[in-house]
Amino acid sequence: MLAGVYIQPAAKVRGTVRVAADKSISHRAALLGGMAKGETRISNFLTGQDCLSTLQCLKTLGVRFEQNGSEIWIQSEGVQDWQEPEDILQVGNSGTTMRLLLGVLAGSPFSATLTGDASIRSRPMRRVTAPLREMGAKILGRRQGTLAPLTISGGQLQGREFTIEVASAQVKSALILAGLRAKGTTSVTEPAQSRDHTERMLQEFGVPLERTDQRVAIQGGAVLHGQNVRVPGDISSAAFFLVLGSLAGAGEIVLPEVGINPTRTGVIDALRQMGADITESNREEIGNEPRATLTVRPAKLRGIEIAGEIIPRLIDELPILAVAGCLAEGETVIRDAAELRVKETDRIKTMTAGLQALGARIEERPDGVHIWGGPRLTGGQAAAWGDHRLAMAWTVAGLVSQTGVSLQGLEAAAVSYPDFYRDIQGLVASDGG
Ligand code: S3P
Repeated sequence: MLAGVYIQPAAKVRGTVRVAADKSISHRAALLGGMAKGETRISNFLTGQDCLSTLQCLKTLGVRFEQNGSEIWIQSEGVQDWQEPEDILQVGNSGTTMRLLLGVLAGSPFSATLTGDASIRSRPMRRVTAPLREMGAKILGRRQGTLAPLTISGGQLQGREFTIEVASAQVKSALILAGLRAKGTTSVTEPAQSRDHTERMLQEFGVPLERTDQRVAIQGGAVLHGQNVRVPGDISSAAFFLVLGSLAGAGEIVLPEVGINPTRTGVIDALRQMGADITESNREEIGNEPRATLTVRPAKLRGIEIAGEIIPRLIDELPILAVAGCLAEGETVIRDAAELRVKETDRIKTMTAGLQALGARIEERPDGVHIWGGPRLTGGQAAAWGDHRLAMAWTVAGLVSQTGVSLQGLEAAAVSYPDFYRDIQGLVASDGG
């Protein structure tokens, strides 16, 4: 067991942070680069554990690449050249690696077995294995092939029209990637729009797609051509600083080149509705993905209701938004977010227990939480339970608490933000504490 850290309250936070690169976009750049013909160069690739798992799986599948820190060069003849893996594909903690790779491997004429850590082995996979089976893939695994470890034997697929019950970019992406190699048309209709990085990047790689807000359709047979991809900062990582900068007593935090794809900016919308002072500047679009500098200053927050179509646009930010809710005036209600129960942890339970231990008034609901905010958060003992987003949310909670937080498991942050603690210390140190 690694020793815990004590997060001391900080009166001021000031500085500029280049937040970790976007996790979703990094996974997709590596996967599409591996599937494309020719050379793909990725700059600012996220070297967090999840994206390293994707690279390791690609290597086991015979994809050739070189890595120099956050620069990746992939050289591929195309996905038809991928090799049957000699060993199990280890996805670690990464649901995106697991689900998107299943989609690609559904069209590959060999067998592969995928597994991951204890969290991954408990996360629902039926949502991808059932439709991929309908398209023609053979999948075996625990509980009728709905839990990892899973073995997939791919081959010729048949396109299908799917209407999925939960808005999920991982499911949508897996089906689109399978559809790329299937006969005919594959389409996915979602109940609300989830992040669209796969669609945007496929278009960059030369694949035509038919798109409306909630439906995407792809014709089988398109060839991907290698591209240059520059990954923006991850808004899900920036979210911790947006909340910290809002709740701090004084200071200003500047976050250059954060991805502001509209399918991901729910956290900015929700925080502004709570009264946050967040401004955007230097907006530019590179490789079909918009980005901007975000600046946040302290503000008095008030409670809001977060529900409905915005949920997929801020699903990963709900733990840190719950911290904001605890220090907002009035009540914050999160609903329609039952998906939180099947993330890296059951985040409805872990958010509630974690914040209650720090003195917050928060109650669990079947599909969210109810928070009664107040001017103070006491502080105390917190555990990350192996969940990267909780590790970072409790760090921010400690900084804005009265007595600080003793945190067990900060190392989990490395899944999506290896330098998180260093970046936090820089903001606190620059103002003397
Ligand atoms: C992701 C999609 C989301 C998100 C996850 C990353 C992606 O999951 O929670 O952290 O990169 O596609 P779902 O698509 O399952 O909602």
